[in-house]
Amino acid sequence: MIKTVKTVKQLRAAVAAWRKRGLSVGFVPTMGFLHAGHQSLIKKAAAQNDRTVVSIFVNPMQFGPKEDLAKYPRDLAADKKACAAAGAHLIFCPEAGEMYPPAFAARVEISGVSEGLCGASRPGHFTGVATVVAKLFNIVQADRAYFGQKDAQQLAVIRRMAADLNINTRIISCPIVRGSDGLALSSRNAYLNARERQAALCISRALAAGRKMLEGGARSALKVEAAVRATINKEPLAKIDYVKIVDPQTMRPVRQINGAVLCAAAVFIGKTRLIDNFIFGA
Ligand code: PAF
Repeated sequence: MIKTVKTVKQLRAAVAAWRKRGLSVGFVPTMGFLHAGHQSLIKKAAAQNDRTVVSIFVNPMQFGPKEDLAKYPRDLAADKKACAAAGAHLIFCPEAGEMYPPAFAARVEISGVSEGLCGASRPGHFTGVATVVAKLFNIVQADRAYFGQKDAQQLAVIRRMAADLNINTRIISCPIVRGSDGLALSSRNAYLNARERQAALCISRALAAGRKMLEGGARSALKVEAAVRATINKEPLAKIDYVKIVDPQTMRPVRQINGAVLCAAAVFIGKTRLIDNFIFGA
């Protein structure tokens, strides 16, 4: 059975023992309810490091007051099996009080890159993400940390934070993992009923159509965004939050496409908000 610790002290002791033996450490931060996307991060971490830590913490700070914190899916027993199967060595699953004791007052705010897209729809979300990830980086002190490209803006925020705060952990991005039907894997897919899951395929379908336009030579971001939106709007259960073509590092909107771009979408399927994206021209 994979070792699980709940306190910062225990985690630090385990990592210190590895460090004493000269072992390298990879880190995969998660909110649990692990799927094959998370496992791809863990497998990469295990391949590139001597030891791999996975954190499982549903971070209250990154949820808005009307969001799904209370119902966010949790299954620690299954997560332990998924971590072990993917090659992790240690799970860190702190209680909220361990991460945020009563006097806790810090906030890590990353301006600019946090402000558009999901940052505009979910005020405070990226401050919550940056704060918990900065804490986790300080606690684990890993050589490398692994993030999925599905959360493209989160990745850009973490990269900015790591560079600006001289964080000594290398940030590694990993490709989006999709179901055989094309849907990007997400813990929130568990909220979808059968009809909604079918409807959700409009997102990857629309993005694939957008990519095809770019591959065919389209260079107007507005036209490509409009085509992606039109495909999603054909699905009655879908409500677009945003479809945007942006610079993949800064998340600033792009009008005329000359270099690498990120085409990102957030769409409600029923009550479930899903995100997906692709990078073109990198
Ligand atoms: O991507 C996630 O699961 C979370 O945002 C993260 C990075 C674990 C921080 O809570």
